[in-house]
This record gives sequence, structure tokens and C-alpha cells, in this order.
Amino acid sequence: MKKVITYGTYDLFHEGHYNLLKRAKALGDYLIVGVTTEYYDLQRGKLNVVNSVLERVENVKKTGLADEIIIEDHDGQKQEDIQKMKADIFAIGSDWTGAFDYLREFCEVVYLERTPDISSTMLRASKYPIRQLGIVGTGRIAPRFLAEAKFVSGINVRAAYNPNEESVGNFGKKHELEAYWKDFSEFLGRVDAIYIASPHETHYNYAKRAIEEGRHVLCEKPLTFTIKEAEELYELAREKGVVLMEGIKTAYCPGFMQMMNVARSGVIGEVKDVEACFSRLTASHMREMADQKYGGAFLEFGSYTLLPIFKLLGCNYESVEFDSILAENGVDLYSKIHFRYKEALALSKTGIGAKSEGQLVIAGTKGYILSESPWWLTRSFVVRFEDPGKVERYSPKFLGDGLRYEIADFVSKMNGNERMSHCLTREESIAMAGVVEKFMERRNKI
Ligand code: CTP
Repeated sequence: MKKVITYGTYDLFHEGHYNLLKRAKALGDYLIVGVTTEYYDLQRGKLNVVNSVLERVENVKKTGLADEIIIEDHDGQKQEDIQKMKADIFAIGSDWTGAFDYLREFCEVVYLERTPDISSTMLRASKYPIRQLGIVGTGRIAPRFLAEAKFVSGINVRAAYNPNEESVGNFGKKHELEAYWKDFSEFLGRVDAIYIASPHETHYNYAKRAIEEGRHVLCEKPLTFTIKEAEELYELAREKGVVLMEGIKTAYCPGFMQMMNVARSGVIGEVKDVEACFSRLTASHMREMADQKYGGAFLEFGSYTLLPIFKLLGCNYESVEFDSILAENGVDLYSKIHFRYKEALALSKTGIGAKSEGQLVIAGTKGYILSESPWWLTRSFVVRFEDPGKVERYSPKFLGDGLRYEIADFVSKMNGNERMSHCLTREESIAMAGVVEKFMERRNKI
């Protein structure tokens, strides 16, 4: 019996996929089809897959051509499968010609002619309109967002807004974007969605106005300074039928998601402590240092450190205590926030005037997870146990600087796909606003 094996994503199953499977099947007697997982697709940069892995498997099954369907979830798996399943032929479309010659060591490799003029990418583009996006605020993060947005299909950055005419004019010229500085409504009129990357204290107003006018909003952290404002924005977004998403990029990174899932899997037992640190020494003229009212370490980095705490221990802590070392102008140079849960503890450490080890430690009853700096991008983490010889190492793949995952998720949500809504829930985002609120109350008293 001649076994043929082939792989694909098979998103929005189309005629090209069908033809390929038919031709592959005709090469032998038994066809094995590998379908990629969402996680594997994310890792290899295929960011906007619409159908879930189950739907894609179901569509392959419906053709009646596959004798066996398997899941592909990691690099190097093709060699493993070919050897394990004793495949005689590896078949794939001609768009891959040459790319799999290395498999000739294990079996025959056949590149089959691709069906012209159809692809999942084309179908995705025709199914969903290209979303026109505007950036509010043209500071340090805006150019990074632009660079990363290029890797995400289904979105086009068209315009930029900043009340400072000169800044936005220069930014617009440099990046070939329409520039607006006077009339925010006119700017909104040109876009379907906005990304808010302006100073913290302006987030709420920009987000509110955009949502009221029916625009989708991706807002940099912190979303708001109070629970009430955060709840109001989410409620307004629900009423208007638009997406509101807080841009904490770590939440959308595949490696971080994997680490959270490993922590929840029970391998380290029950989670008893989460300790997260993020520090970056900052020059005195920078906004974080100079802005007496809205600068400081916690407002800058606290969303990152709160994220694993709320993900793993939930949003219902029993008490929270803040401690900060302040600069002369009152901004916090270094802050520690202790959380007490019913059966666990947590600590957030953020710094702009003191440097510490930027690590995340998740302690459990059976072992612990350690992710070293930059854990917020989660390129690697280890699971350790009492026995020092027993170590499990994870090295998730990670592309770009992380923003592309967040942008891809924003696009999926605008397209009505809620698959990744667990990355950062409304409840977690509102709970973070609650901590910011308490922090600001205390700060205003000092
Ligand atoms: N394929 C084909 N003809 C097409 C499209 C795809 O023969 N017109 C083949 C691919 O070469 C591959 C298999 O179908 O062997 C699965 O491809 P997949 O990457 O899932 O589909 P694409 O439509 O190419 O997806 P995308 O646009 O996302 O790259």
C-alpha cells in the first residue's frame, strides 16, 4: 500500500484545496492529511486564520478524500510523521517547490500543480473588508505599531491624529499617512478603527468619542484610571456593536498564552504566588519621569505585571497594598504592589528609577515556572521542581516585537471572530483599571 502525506491550513476551504487533495490521493492508496493548529499558525506568522482547527479538520473530512487526518503543531513534525507513519510520498502544492526537498531523505517528494487564482488569503480579503485604521498619538510607540501592522492582513493604517500640528505633520509625511490635528471627528470620518497611543490621561476621552461614533478601538494600556470609566467604555462598545480592546501586547503573545496554560495545567500544582517585575531606567526628561501627574513606573509598566497575576489568580483579591519610592516631583521611581488572595499571594514590581531582574516567577505546590527577562515577550520559560535535575524547558517561537499578535487579534475581533477573546478578558481589563484607580487615589493623597 502506497501512503501519501500532505499538510496545510485549509482555511476557508476552497477548490484549490480540494484539487490538491484529489491529486495527492491519486498518487497512492492511502492519504494522510495534516492540518495545522491555531497556535502553530500563529507561531509561523499566519495570523489571520478564520476557521478553528476543528472546522478546518471537518472540511477536509467532508471531501471524503482523507483516509486519516492528523494535527500539525510544531516545526520538524513532518519528518517525524513521515517516519512514524511510513509515508512513501510527501505531496504539496507547487507554491512550495523546493522548500521540502530536505524530506527526500525520508520519502519521495512531489510538488503538485497549484490551482490558479484562488487562495485562502484571497478569500479572506474578499470576505472581510480591509479595515482602515487611524493612529491617535504619534510618540514612541506609533512607528512600531506601523511596522508591525504591515505583517497583519486585513488592515491598512491610513491616518494619524495629534493635536500638535507639527508632530502629526512630520509623522504623516514620514509614513505617508493623512495627518489630522484640529478636528477629531474629521479624522474619525476617515477610518473604521483607531489605535490610541496618546498620553495615558487622554485614553478615556478619545476612546469614548470614537466608540460613540461607531469606531472600533484598540487602546494602549492603561485603558482608564477608574473602574467606572472602564465599565462605561465596555458597555458603550457593546451598545454600539464595536470592538474595544486594551492593548497589553503580552496578553496576545503565543508564548505567554502557553506559559499561562502550563501554569494552569497542574504541572506545578496549585499556584500560590505570582511575582512579576518590569523595570526600565528612564532619563529625567522623558514623559515617564517628568510628568508629575501621570508619569511613574506603575502607570507605565503595571499592566504587564498585573496581567499574569490576574490571569492565574483571578481578579478577586482580598486586599492590595502599595509601596513606592518617589522622585522629588512625586512620580514613583519604583513600586511594589502586594496582593493577598484567599489562598495565594502576588507581587508586582515596576521601576523607572531602579533596575531589577525583569522576571516572572509562578510558584506552585509542586514546582515553579521561571521566565526571565523579557518574560513579557515570553521567548522562553522553564518549569522547575524540588529535584534540581528535573527541568522542563519551553522555547515558544515569537515574531517581531509582539504587537503583530495584538493587531491580528484586533482584526479578527472586528471581523466577528471571538476565538481569542480569552487573551485579555473584559473582567481582567476592568480589574486592572481598579488597581490603577486605587494607586491614583493613594498617589493623590501623598
Ligand atoms: N493549494 C493549491 N492551490 C491553491 C491553493 C492551495 O494547490 N490555489 C494547496 C497548497 O499548495 C497546499 C494546500 O493546498 O499544498 C494547503 O494550502 P494552504 O496553505 O492551506 O492554502 P492557501 O490557499 O495557499 O492559503 P494561504 O492563502 O493562507 O497561504
